[in-house]
Amino acid sequence: MSNIFEFEGVDGMGYSQPDLLVEESDLKLPVGLLRKKLPRLPLLSEPEVVRHYTWLSTRNFGIDTGFYPLGSCTMKHNPRVNEVIAAMPGITELHPLQKESHLQGLLSIMFEMQEMLAICAGMDSVTLQPVAGAQGEFTAIRCIQEYHKSIGEGHRNKVIVPDSAHGTNPASAAMCGYEIIEIPSGEDGLLDLDALKSVVGNDTAAMMITNPNTLGIFEHEISKAADIVHSAGGQMYYDGANFNAILGKTTPGLMGFDAVHYNLHKTFSQPHGGGGPGSGPIGVKSHLAEFLPSPMISRRKKNKDDGNGVDGDWWYVKVQPENSIGKVQQWMGNSGAIVRCWAFYRRYGFQLEKMSEHAVLNANYLRHILMNPNEEIASKIPVMPVDGSNVKFCKHEFTISALPLKEKSGITAMDLAKGLLDKGYMAPTVYFPLVVPECMMIEPTETESKKTLDTFASKFHEVLTEDSETLHNAPVTTHVGRVDEVLAARNLILKYEFEDMD
Ligand SMILES: Cc1ncc(COP(=O)(O)O)c(C=O)c1O
Repeated sequence: MSNIFEFEGVDGMGYSQPDLLVEESDLKLPVGLLRKKLPRLPLLSEPEVVRHYTWLSTRNFGIDTGFYPLGSCTMKHNPRVNEVIAAMPGITELHPLQKESHLQGLLSIMFEMQEMLAICAGMDSVTLQPVAGAQGEFTAIRCIQEYHKSIGEGHRNKVIVPDSAHGTNPASAAMCGYEIIEIPSGEDGLLDLDALKSVVGNDTAAMMITNPNTLGIFEHEISKAADIVHSAGGQMYYDGANFNAILGKTTPGLMGFDAVHYNLHKTFSQPHGGGGPGSGPIGVKSHLAEFLPSPMISRRKKNKDDGNGVDGDWWYVKVQPENSIGKVQQWMGNSGAIVRCWAFYRRYGFQLEKMSEHAVLNANYLRHILMNPNEEIASKIPVMPVDGSNVKFCKHEFTISALPLKEKSGITAMDLAKGLLDKGYMAPTVYFPLVVPECMMIEPTETESKKTLDTFASKFHEVLTEDSETLHNAPVTTHVGRVDEVLAARNLILKYEFEDMD
């Protein structure tokens, strides 16, 4: 049974209605609005419903079921205290249209979140509106666009991205109407400053880049890149997807960036996956602040007309920046996500720095043991993958390339990923970034223990000893075997077709 509607139920089961306590009304609904058939309700008893959904939940792999080293996606443990706080009635029972005096608690959380995010990115103003990193990119690039127009530079029509950029960077800029200029990375996987110099000009609107970059390497010449872009009149945009590596250590502001998005659902915990629910606030330097979407949260001293029942000196208010680009999302953004992330940061406080340290330590440890099996294991592995970058140390994630295996025995990165599923792991990110051939991108995050990393490495080595036929057919232990990836991506079936559809 893949679907609750396929359950062979018993007539009359599944719902009960209380006896009518009022007199039946003579008023009739218009005929056109009446159902022609009874609603198609599943006919199950309560235990059957519970069993169905519990069964469904066991078919999923999640961060709560096992190690989830999905590079660039920072699938981190979500402390349960976040859930307790986000589920408090003072949060869940609010309606965004309630009076400001009813919203003071939530507004104060949002204000604090704006302030904290501004500090940790070295920015001047933050809006919590966007609900995904990609939406944050779009929003910030729109602000940059309006800024250029406001200073008579509206002709700037090009956005530069390195070839290692996440696909959302060029996509967001293109949605704002910009032409995308891609520049190649150097052999070391880092930004090539000469390539950058050759494309900047008086048509450059911005450059978008993440740091550490998508290979997990810190762009140590980033402030030189910022100088090059700024001296041509462009703006620097920081893709914050890799913030987990640098929190408390440095800031995009110090590196020379003008705007940044935060993937709250990565860096600050919060359940994440399947495209949502997320939160992608943006932070900007002061010259861009007047264009941010509204509402933003501000505070002032409370006065006697502000209403009763609220303690404290501050009064939190929704404000609209002067030349706002308008709204990019309803209400105040994804408030549930924001509260969870606020709870997370409140618990860590100044130890956020430790979080990044542990994330980087775990990535370096795993990289080392994966790439350096002991002699006994190495003798059983016909071909080792190679390190995707030549740096001594990575940041919070690293890449490896399965190219040598592919050339020798036809085993691809995808085959290794599927083999790992059979060992009980979520596969790392594959084929991204595109600059590493047969790429696997691994990000362990800060909360995994040494034992988990050791076991993962030994299972990975086991996969490497397997023959190509086994790996081409993997996975065989999961609920769904090897799927046709292209068909699955191009021919999405998102709704259930009932035999009788009317
Ligand atoms: C480097 C990078 N940039 C941007 C994004 C987009 O973020 P979101 O998925 O929140 O839209 C991602 C997502 O994985 C990413 O890895």
